Amino acid sequence: MNEISCRQGFVPSATWLARFTDPETGAVENCGTIQGITDQVDVGSIQNIGIVPNHRSRGLGRCLLNQSLLGFAKVGIKFVTLEVTSHNTGALRLYEKMGFRIIRTVYKSIDLAYG
Ligand SMILES: CC(C)(COP(=O)(O)OP(=O)(O)OC[C@H]1O[C@@H](n2cnc3c(N)ncnc32)[C@H](O)[C@@H]1OP(=O)(O)O)[C@@H](O)C(=O)NCCC(=O)NCCS
Repeated sequence: MNEISCRQGFVPSATWLARFTDPETGAVENCGTIQGITDQVDVGSIQNIGIVPNHRSRGLGRCLLNQSLLGFAKVGIKFVTLEVTSHNTGALRLYEKMGFRIIRTVYKSIDLAYG
C-alpha cells in the first residue's frame, strides 16, 4: 500500500483495504486489498487484488472489485484493465462474472540451457 501510494497515477478512490474485527475477541486483522493506478488518460489498472486464505469465498473479492470500479468511475475512469495468469481460473471466473472480458492473452517464452 505504501509503495503503490507513492507511484505516479495512484488512484486513492480505487484502492481499498478490508479489515476484519473478530466479534468475540475484538482483534482486528487486515484481510484483503485492492489497488488502483492509471497509466494513461482515462484507463485504470487494478493491481494486487488479494484476500487472505481464511477469508476467501465470502464475497470480499467481489466487494473490493465493486468498490474499486466505483472509485475509478468517481474520477472519470470507466475503462479498467487487470492482469491475471491463465491458470488462475477462480480469479478469472470472478472477473468474468463481474463483466471483465479477455482482450489479450500473452504467451511467455521459457529460456532453457544445457551444459
Ligand atoms: C481471487 C480472489 C481475490 C477472490 O476473492 P474471494 O473473496 O475469495 O471471492 P468472492 O468470495 O468474492 O467470490 C466471488 C465469485 O467468484 C467465484 N470464485 C472466487 N474464487 C473462486 C475460485 N477459487 N474458484 C471458483 N470460483 C471462485 C465465487 O464462486 C463467487 O461467485 P458467486 O458470487 O457467483 O458465488 C481470492 O481468491 C484471492 O485472493 N486469491 C489469491 C490471490 C489471487 O489470485 N489474486 C488475483 C490475482 S489477479
